[in-house]
This record gives sequence, C-alpha cells and structure tokens, in this order.
Amino acid sequence: MNREQLASYQPLHVFDEAIFENIVDDLVTTGFSIQKHGLPDFITQALLTCQRSISDAEYKKAGIGRAENYQTAEKVRGDEICWITGSSEEGALWLSWCEAMQQYINRSLFMGLFSFESHFACYEPGKFYKRHVDAFKGQGNRVLSLVAYLNDSWQETDGGELVLYFDENDQIGTKVLPEKGTFVVFLSEAFPHEVLPALRTRHSVAGWFRVNGSVNDSIDPPR
Ligand code: OGA
Ligand code: MN
Repeated sequence: MNREQLASYQPLHVFDEAIFENIVDDLVTTGFSIQKHGLPDFITQALLTCQRSISDAEYKKAGIGRAENYQTAEKVRGDEICWITGSSEEGALWLSWCEAMQQYINRSLFMGLFSFESHFACYEPGKFYKRHVDAFKGQGNRVLSLVAYLNDSWQETDGGELVLYFDENDQIGTKVLPEKGTFVVFLSEAFPHEVLPALRTRHSVAGWFRVNGSVNDSIDPPR
C-alpha cells in the first residue's frame, strides 16, 4: 500500500460484538440463532433507507437455480429480489457489519467463512417460499444463512412467518415473525425452512456466508 492508498484506507467500523457473541454461543449449542429485535438500530435504519430507495424495476423475480424456468420457480417461491452491492453508504454499512460478524465467527469457531452475498426480498400478499434448504450437503458452498426483517408492527394474523425446521423429519418447526429488527442465523445445510404466505407486503434481507470452493485450476468467485 502506498502513502496515498494508506491515507484513503478506511478501517472496518468498530461494532458492538456482544450480539456476535450471542450468535456464536447459539450456533455452538443448536446450530441456529433467533435474535428477536436484535439488529442494532443503525443497521436496521440503514437497511430501510437502502430498501426504500430501490425502484420496482430493480426488483427481479427470484429463481430457484439454473435448470428451472420462472414458471416452475413461481410454484416454489414468489418473492422479488434485489442484490445489495454496497454502492450506497447504507448498503456498504450493512455489508461491513456482516463482514465484522464473519470475522468474529471465524475467530471463534474457525468456520473459514470467505465471502458474503445478500439481497433484499419482497413478498407481495399471498406470495410464499416453499420448504427448502439453502445448500445441499457436499454441493455449493453456502454454509451460514442470515435473514433479517424490516416490517413495522407485524402481527401473527398477518401470516408470513419464517418456519425453521430442526431436521428433515420435523413437521412442526419454530415460527419467526418477520418483525423489524429481528434476524435469524442458521447453518445452511442443516435447517429446512419456509416462508408462509402473508396478508401484507413483506420485506426481508437474506444473506449467505460462503466458504471458498476453489480447487486446483478452477477459481470460485465470491458471487
Ligand atoms: C431465502 C429464505 C427466508 C425469509 O431467501 O432463502 O429462506 O424469511 N428467506 O425471507
Ligand atoms: Mn432459504
């Protein structure tokens, strides 16, 4: 790094690590962590500002993998998504908070998390995401999932809960209200989950920490 680069070098924000410690403790004991209203307020505000600035045209119908067409995908998931690039100050703040979480988890659990990707998701009334896992054993390299919620005063009668199942056989699961400031972290391969249809428009942010899948001559890009 030369002097000029050094002068413009922005160190990582210093974030309160207490919440990261809670997450790590939960991951060790159960593999998932539900943080009810646990998002720091300035992160929630940054995400809301960022999300509100996205035009309808920037949201794209979410797919379910390369082989499927959107008609097939629609039966599985009905949300529209917009990737967070960090081009706005608020988006960059979110990504740096997640990076700080990644570093904390790596230091504590040696998970070797290598990159993070995340998008806003919007579910219009009636839309859902059927039961699925975010990664399959031995495939892909998403290892830790993160979902955060941005909806004011969400009621049980609004529906739209995230249902987290504890294994393939679990038919009951645990419901999480998608309320502003609540977020969930879980091991991507271990927990099937679904989004129930809602009566109101539902805004969430989904993200995944990945390990580096590069082997020999084949490079695994972060996205
Ligand atoms: C996903 C997902 C859950 C939610 O995007 O993979 O499971 O509550 N989202 O929005
Ligand atoms: Mn998912």
